[in-house]
Amino acid sequence: MHLLFQTRGDFNMETMDAIKRRRSIRKYTSQPIDEDELIPLIRAAMYAPSAGNQQPWEFILIDDNDLLEEFAIKHSNAHMLSEAPAAVLICGDLSRLKHDKFWVQDCAAACQNFLLAAHDRGLSTCWVGVYPRENRVADIRKMLNLPDQIVPFSLIPVGKPAETLPVPDRFDSSRIHKNNWK
Ligand SMILES: Cc1cc2nc3c(=O)[nH]c(=O)nc-3n(C[C@H](O)[C@H](O)[C@H](O)COP(=O)(O)O)c2cc1C
Repeated sequence: MHLLFQTRGDFNMETMDAIKRRRSIRKYTSQPIDEDELIPLIRAAMYAPSAGNQQPWEFILIDDNDLLEEFAIKHSNAHMLSEAPAAVLICGDLSRLKHDKFWVQDCAAACQNFLLAAHDRGLSTCWVGVYPRENRVADIRKMLNLPDQIVPFSLIPVGKPAETLPVPDRFDSSRIHKNNWK
C-alpha cells in the first residue's frame, strides 16, 4: 500500500480497499514469520491515536509454539493460535496513564493499525480478545510473567494465509443518524 493524497474529496482507495479486505484469518501455512516482519506491524500500531497521546501500549513477540498451544487448548475460540508461526500480545501499561480508562481504546486503535499493516504486507491475523475476560488475563499474566501494571489486551496470531475469505458487505445506512436519534 502506497500513500496517496486525497484529491477532490475522493477517498484514498488503497486505504479503503485494505480496510474492507482485511479479514480474521484462522488458518496459516507453516512458513515461519521473522521478527523483522513483525516490527513494521508494531511500528504501525505505535502510530495509533491515544488519549492525550499517552501511548500506553507494550508489545510481546511470541514464537514459542508451546505457549501458543497452551493458550489455544485452554480457551475457546483460540484454536488458531496453535498453528500460528508467531503471535504478538498487545498490553496496556497502567503506569503510563494520564487518562485512566482510555487505555482500552488506545490499545484497540493500536491493534487495528497492526491488523491493517499486516494485511498490507500479505500477512494474516486474527484479533483474539484477552482483556476484559478475567480468565484469559490471569492465564496470560501467569504464562508470560507479566508485572502487575501490565494488562494483556489482545493476542494476535500472525502467519501467511492458508485460507481466503470474501469481502463482506457491512455498510448499513439504517445505522446512521443525524442530529438526534429519530
Ligand atoms: C474485541 C475482539 C475480540 C475478538 N476475539 C476473538 C477470539 O477470541 N477468537 C476469534 O476467533 N476471533 C475473535 N475476534 C475476531 C472476530 O470474530 C472478527 O473480527 C469478526 O467475526 C468479524 O470478522 P472479520 O475480522 O473477518 O471482519 C475478536 C474481535 C474483536 C474486535
